[in-house]
Amino acid sequence: MSFVTKGFHHTTHVCSDAGRTLAFYRDVLGFDLVKKTVNFDMPTTYHLYFGKNGGSPGTLLTYFEWPYAARGRWGAGGVHHVALGTTDRDTLLKWKRWLTSNDVKVSGPYNRGYFHSIYFQDPDGQVLEIATEGPGFDIDEPMDRLGELMITPDISRLPQGRDEAEIAAQTWPEPIEAITPEMDLWGIHHVTGHSKDLVAAGEFYERALGLKLIKKTVNQDVPDLLHYFWANYDGETILPGSDMTLFGVNHLARDAREGVGQTHHIAFRADDDEQLGAWREHLLGQGIAVTEIRDRNYFKSIYFNAPDGLRIEIATDPPGFAIDESSDALGRELKLPDWLESQRAEIETKIPELS
Ligand SMILES: [Fe+2]
Ligand SMILES: [Fe+2]
Repeated sequence: MSFVTKGFHHTTHVCSDAGRTLAFYRDVLGFDLVKKTVNFDMPTTYHLYFGKNGGSPGTLLTYFEWPYAARGRWGAGGVHHVALGTTDRDTLLKWKRWLTSNDVKVSGPYNRGYFHSIYFQDPDGQVLEIATEGPGFDIDEPMDRLGELMITPDISRLPQGRDEAEIAAQTWPEPIEAITPEMDLWGIHHVTGHSKDLVAAGEFYERALGLKLIKKTVNQDVPDLLHYFWANYDGETILPGSDMTLFGVNHLARDAREGVGQTHHIAFRADDDEQLGAWREHLLGQGIAVTEIRDRNYFKSIYFNAPDGLRIEIATDPPGFAIDESSDALGRELKLPDWLESQRAEIETKIPELS
């Protein structure tokens, strides 16, 4: 078999207040709470799963609640931001207007060349982006030869060529009263981290996950730093929801620190248990230290680290979130795995009710 992931399965983050996180992702960003459970390794704290379409892989953002933990910070070996996908510039501007009217501070829309983007933070400081589907990665090199050239962005996309006041003033002209169907976010568009060694990281993402380098350019906000993109790319098409990107940083740059407001790990997809087992063997064969297969109830998982220290998971698509409650009632009840059911009474007294 060929070891090429279909893209992101989920990203997992740390929040300080599950109720506040629920209000933000459900009411402001329009995600469904598809599972209300506890952190299996710390069962008196919540683990909330947000997603679309019943929690299909690639649409999932999950949150550990660490009420007493310190704030983390982004840096080398961590994730800087997670981008969520929207259709086009109109829907992007509608999101800006909607977020602003919900007291979320938004920057952009920025023309990133390959897509257009706005940026904001969740209540704990996790940086989020909403990005359009196009124009695509073939605007500056042919679709069958992506990643070969070192691309210098047009000056209009760089800080010295941008009119920040004009960008800040752009928004949808009408008030947005509610998230409309065309605004619906379709899932994880890309994930961006920081690396002190883009060559080593790229080699790792290619051999461990089968992702291909599709763009070599610079960070369009800090143009003296590199920005590389990888994805599931077969020389003709790029699979949506598979784009991992890294900003290159100096070897003296600060390291990421785990904690509230940061991404705990990112997960890529495996088709099923059999493929996950094969993937584990493949990683071991590459000399990559990988955990045993762990049962996460809604999927099975293995974990390993990227060269910069970023925690990576591979998770199976099945069985999914309808395994322990009906698909039209996902997220309503506190669900526990069988091995924690005997502790339910104690757990329920220790975690606050969510509404
Ligand atoms: Fe995970
Ligand atoms: Fe981004």
